[in-house]
Amino acid sequence: MNALTGKVAVVTGATSGIGVDVARAFVAEGAHVVLAGRRRSEGDAVVRELGPAASFVRTDVTDEDDVAELLHVAVQRHGRLDVLVNNAGAASHLGSIEEVDAAAFRATQEVNVMGALYGIKHAVGHLRRLGTGGSIINMASITGDRVVYAGVAYSVSKAALIHLTKWAAAELGAYGIRVNSISPGFITTTRFGKAAGVTEVQARERLDALDTYAREQAASMQAIHRAGTGSDVAGAAVYLAGDASSYVTGQDLAIDGGLSLGQPRDAMVRIRDTMAGIFAG
Ligand SMILES: NC(=O)c1ccc[n+]([C@@H]2O[C@H](COP(=O)([O-])OP(=O)(O)OC[C@H]3O[C@@H](n4cnc5c(N)ncnc54)[C@H](OP(=O)(O)O)[C@@H]3O)[C@@H](O)[C@H]2O)c1
Repeated sequence: MNALTGKVAVVTGATSGIGVDVARAFVAEGAHVVLAGRRRSEGDAVVRELGPAASFVRTDVTDEDDVAELLHVAVQRHGRLDVLVNNAGAASHLGSIEEVDAAAFRATQEVNVMGALYGIKHAVGHLRRLGTGGSIINMASITGDRVVYAGVAYSVSKAALIHLTKWAAAELGAYGIRVNSISPGFITTTRFGKAAGVTEVQARERLDALDTYAREQAASMQAIHRAGTGSDVAGAAVYLAGDASSYVTGQDLAIDGGLSLGQPRDAMVRIRDTMAGIFAG
């Protein structure tokens, strides 16, 4: 496996969940990866697992100076930069619009939109100077296109991120820089446990139960009757990071088991049969 041999990647939000799977896949494909996040002990643990091709820089993506320093350290450490994955993300409250808290709404945009914007802004300078082109991948969500799969602040932030992706792609193609987004559907990570108020460790212990529930839900909601995994998303990230996608930019790639297609045919058949029962008296 060598789709990313010789490449240097920065992955934000790589202290848990999808970001860890992306970093793991990048290392397996031959890349050097600089992981970022706020939780140092979790970041160090991932680095121990991934070995010498990985390192960690403590970063809060809502702090522009932190993000600039992260990218500076990556280039200093490895002499180049090829890939930036803006994966760090924050969920939002699931309440109604009337219940929106302005500060909390802004906080979600700070991570999901501003964090990615800072990443793009400060990666461009390095990529242009190095003349290496590059691939920037933003972790969006199907909620950026489809409404009411998540909270309003989160959905709006991911819609903005998809638009930012297209905007940046249109500008940065002139420098050989490609910008794409990935929109995962329902991926069973600990974020749902954390959103429900339990710790990362407790959330991890309940992942099997979450997966069983997701499987039941998926059967009535989407073409592929299971929840996604971080590895499903990582496969898309490897493709967008590597030379196999060298003519792809400004795209939003849904990794959602068909959720964004609408309900599967068997759900329609169940409705048809139920209605037939109503009319049969
Ligand atoms: N799981 C899903 O079903 C799903 C679906 C669609 C999209 N996504 C997107 O996929 C991405 C990863 O989510 P996940 O499910 O893997 O959740 P997760 O395990 O909670 O991961 C979120 C990551 O973002 C980091 N992060 C949050 N705020 C940050 C900040 N201010 N600065 C730096 N890092 C920050 C966290 O690290 P620290 O806490 O250490 O800072 C963590 O590593 C997110 O962008 C999410 O919106 C997930």
